[in-house]
Amino acid sequence: MIRRYKSHSLLPYNTFGIDVNAANFIEFESENELIQLIKEGFDSPVLVVGGGSNLLFMDNYKGTVLHSCIMGVEVIVESSDNVFIRVGSGMKWDDLVAYTIEKGWQGLENLSAIPGEVGASAVQNVGAYGVEAGELIERVDTISLIDGTKRCFSQSECRFSYRNSIFKEEEFGKNVVTYVTYRLRKKPEFRLTYGNLRQRVDELGGVTPQNISSIVRDIRSSKLPDPVELGNAGSFFVNPVVSKELAQALVENYPSMPHYNTHDGRMKLSAAWLIEQCGWRGERVGNVGVYEKQALVIVNYGGATGKEIMAFADTVCESVKNKFGVLLNREVNIIM
Ligand code: EPU
Repeated sequence: MIRRYKSHSLLPYNTFGIDVNAANFIEFESENELIQLIKEGFDSPVLVVGGGSNLLFMDNYKGTVLHSCIMGVEVIVESSDNVFIRVGSGMKWDDLVAYTIEKGWQGLENLSAIPGEVGASAVQNVGAYGVEAGELIERVDTISLIDGTKRCFSQSECRFSYRNSIFKEEEFGKNVVTYVTYRLRKKPEFRLTYGNLRQRVDELGGVTPQNISSIVRDIRSSKLPDPVELGNAGSFFVNPVVSKELAQALVENYPSMPHYNTHDGRMKLSAAWLIEQCGWRGERVGNVGVYEKQALVIVNYGGATGKEIMAFADTVCESVKNKFGVLLNREVNIIM
């Protein structure tokens, strides 16, 4: 069923807890309903939202906000080694993770407890604890917002990279993701290289998807605020990738600075560390602050506007630029 609302509150659709409205808000439950909507037309601009865990609204949204309520998990192919599942873009990400673990299908356990919905896992290439969703995505089904035609993107066409995909680049704003197909494993093969994940999983009783999931949930809840209690969008910035030369020069001045090699010969720095070194961890200005347990997270202590959060983030960014000469890019999408 298609559901249409006027002047609809976006509070349930942004984890930052910004109190704004959408002039038009439309939900659909199938590909055909979405095609029908596109053919009928709606007020522009248009914004597609999932759980809103990566959005910051500057103001009321004047056009149309679309929300997929396409649900369901369908097994496409199953062998003794793998299972391919096609999942509706409106399903809650963590419900999918829990469901696959229960079924004994492996791959998503490191991505436990991430807020948001399935569609965004492909757009954003969500990642945590050494795994990125894009590694497990076989195919993404979309519908063009321009003419309602269907198009499937293979994994390579999605061009996944760190927190990025074609849907944030040249396909930005052109499609709605309707289904994501994941390739999961039925034989054990786990990624336990992040921090002391392996040790903690061993201590819990051994390497199983359930134990990995449970430790990841534990780590997340100890470092990241629950949006239900404290508005936030997880990491506000992405970790900066800089030239080897710049990283080496910084390490000479700051020997304890975390730095990691990337595949393309550059180096990734820890944005949280840079922000913390500028003295921001736990600092608060009005209703906005840097979370005390994770400096990459900006929090809304209640009643902050998008503009206040943005101004605060700009100040943080500016001080990192001044101290280290490193520009932080936002992970959060700003919606005007
Ligand atoms: N660190 C600090 N100060 C802090 C927090 C961290 O110095 O306040 C340093 C430490 O050296 C620590 C390192 O940063 O060892 C890494 O910290 P963490 O494991 O928390 O990872 P992160 O790089 O800060 C990224 C993702 C998170 C993801 C974690 C775990 C990005 C932008 N963020 O954070 O993703 O959960 O790794 O894999 O890549 C998100 O995208 O919203 C998100 C929460």
